[in-house]
Amino acid sequence: MAGSVKNIVVGGGTGNIGRYLVSSLVKSGHNVSVISRRAVVLNKIMKTTRSSSSHFLPQSAISWKDIDREGLPLDTDVVINLSGRSIGNPGPWTNSLKKSIESSRIDTTKRLAKAIEKSEIPPKVFISASAVGAYACDPDKIYTESDVPVIKGRETFFTDLCKKWEESSAVKEECNTRVVNPRFGVVLAYDTPPLTTLMPQTALTGATEVGTGDQPFPWVHMDDAVSAVNFMIENESVSGPVNVVGPQIVDNSQFTKALADACMSCVLKNMPLPAFVVRLLYGTERADNILLDSPKVQPQTLLDMGFQFQHQTIDTALKHVVSVLMESKDSGFDYSALKWALERNKKRKNAQ
Ligand SMILES: NC(=O)c1ccc[n+]([C@@H]2O[C@H](COP(=O)([O-])OP(=O)(O)OC[C@H]3O[C@@H](n4cnc5c(N)ncnc54)[C@H](OP(=O)(O)O)[C@@H]3O)[C@@H](O)[C@H]2O)c1
Repeated sequence: MAGSVKNIVVGGGTGNIGRYLVSSLVKSGHNVSVISRRAVVLNKIMKTTRSSSSHFLPQSAISWKDIDREGLPLDTDVVINLSGRSIGNPGPWTNSLKKSIESSRIDTTKRLAKAIEKSEIPPKVFISASAVGAYACDPDKIYTESDVPVIKGRETFFTDLCKKWEESSAVKEECNTRVVNPRFGVVLAYDTPPLTTLMPQTALTGATEVGTGDQPFPWVHMDDAVSAVNFMIENESVSGPVNVVGPQIVDNSQFTKALADACMSCVLKNMPLPAFVVRLLYGTERADNILLDSPKVQPQTLLDMGFQFQHQTIDTALKHVVSVLMESKDSGFDYSALKWALERNKKRKNAQ
């Protein structure tokens, strides 16, 4: 299968990581279909814009109902699931939101696992997203894939979610489908969260540390996240959980400094975002699970298997993100204001 043209189905292929991944897969010559709740609208848009668009668009969009009714398209080689209601938006994790966060990941994954099991010729690989939230936040530990993610009694909503999410991607052994669970860290690109909020704020006024700033910030550049998924498709010996984080472990304070440097701005040292404000904005559980604490994670499997990271350090990764934004044709008020602020900062820096 390595290197050949493949038929690839991507659940959640319309999302932050999905857009970049689908574009790279189509660019490489693969036939890609996305599964989306908005399949009908997407098909209409793609039909009218395909000839004029400079983007690498998927061949088609399929609805989840189509998957339930008709199964996977014939001759599907690779299935990927990136679906999931956002975890990081402001506001507390209410019970109904938690249910929706879970079902948007677990139900979609189960539906794909079922479709794989029903296929006459099952796909070779099923890549089903997970997150570094699978690991507990033991400050003395650097987690690799061979560690028990969380010891009994230390479970949280986030660790439980990731456990159930990964378990739901299991398919019957007789399918011979390789299952991989990329445990993504925070994926960094100029047009995806959290940088869509943090970059303008940093470029315009300065960067703020969150809480004490000591909490780890597991990150990965979008280019490397996309390459890692490509690596999982092509490399038949990869299976199980795979940490998709950059090779440099940093804390929130180092991330904040690197972002300020990349935006040629400063860290507002006297104005960190205090933990109590983060808890007020996000609710205690979400704040404590995502923003005020995170695990230290190493991409051991990728490193052991010879995966080459394009962006090795948070400094170079964020500088690259800024340079891609400056070269992009993206306009609109948000991007114009951000580009203006970055140009202004550059001039100020050069004048010093
Ligand atoms: N981005 C990161 O930094 C990061 C870090 C760790 C883990 N992850 C995980 O990796 C996966 C992809 O991340 P992402 O940032 O690309 O995700 P995203 O853009 O927030 O969402 C991906 C797609 O999920 C679908 N979706 C949203 N809400 C849904 C719902 N209630 N029910 C069913 N589908 C829903 C949407 O597709 P349609 O509207 O087309 O149906 C959306 O385009 C997610 O599961 C995420 O948790 C991401």
